[in-house]
Amino acid sequence: MDEHMLGLAARPDRYRRFTARPFRRIHDRVVTDVVRAALPDGARILDVGTGPGNVPIRIGGRLPGVHVDGIDLSARMIAHAADAADAAGVADRVRFFAEDAAHTSYDDGTFDLVISSMSQHHWPDVPGVLAELRRILRPDGRVWIYDARMALGRCEQAARGYWPAAAVRRDVVRTGRVLPALFARLSVDAAR
Ligand SMILES: C[S@@+](CC[C@H](N)C(=O)[O-])C[C@H]1O[C@@H](n2cnc3c(N)ncnc32)[C@H](O)[C@@H]1O
Repeated sequence: MDEHMLGLAARPDRYRRFTARPFRRIHDRVVTDVVRAALPDGARILDVGTGPGNVPIRIGGRLPGVHVDGIDLSARMIAHAADAADAAGVADRVRFFAEDAAHTSYDDGTFDLVISSMSQHHWPDVPGVLAELRRILRPDGRVWIYDARMALGRCEQAARGYWPAAAVRRDVVRTGRVLPALFARLSVDAAR
């Protein structure tokens, strides 16, 4: 956990309350995008920098056929997320692990879809994380990284170093009709 988290990693319950409102719309958008992707039963999704696990738990509730893993550097966040998955009745398909996204224990080609929300700007080693995501992604897999528009530049640059130009795009994410577009999604479609 880095200093930008203002100590909230040590208090996952407080983090969840503190971010519930500002992150609600971006989380809604991630969940909607994943549901619309119409992944087949048995598909595997990874959420990088999952924090208290809100997004994987919501996806697990909407898509009973998929398996979602959430990873985070913070063991406290992971413990909180695992308890929340249990309480939500999805712990058989939504699991959480304390792992560094730059060095995971997953086999090559494990995931159909890797998502991440509001975490990328905390990654100390963005090229290292993207190299690892490329390794653990299926050859036809996708990566969707949602973050503040202003914070995604280094991630896009790193992604363009690992995948062909046609595979990488960045789109503005609108979270309300009147709000300025503060967020964006960096997408990699490895099949392209
Ligand atoms: C602002 S929180 C976002 C949490 C959650 N994704 C959300 O949308 O509420 C950022 C999280 O990224 C995690 N993180 C930062 N660098 C990481 C890394 N290299 N590997 C795994 N998790 C990381 C932090 O520990 C923190 O919990």
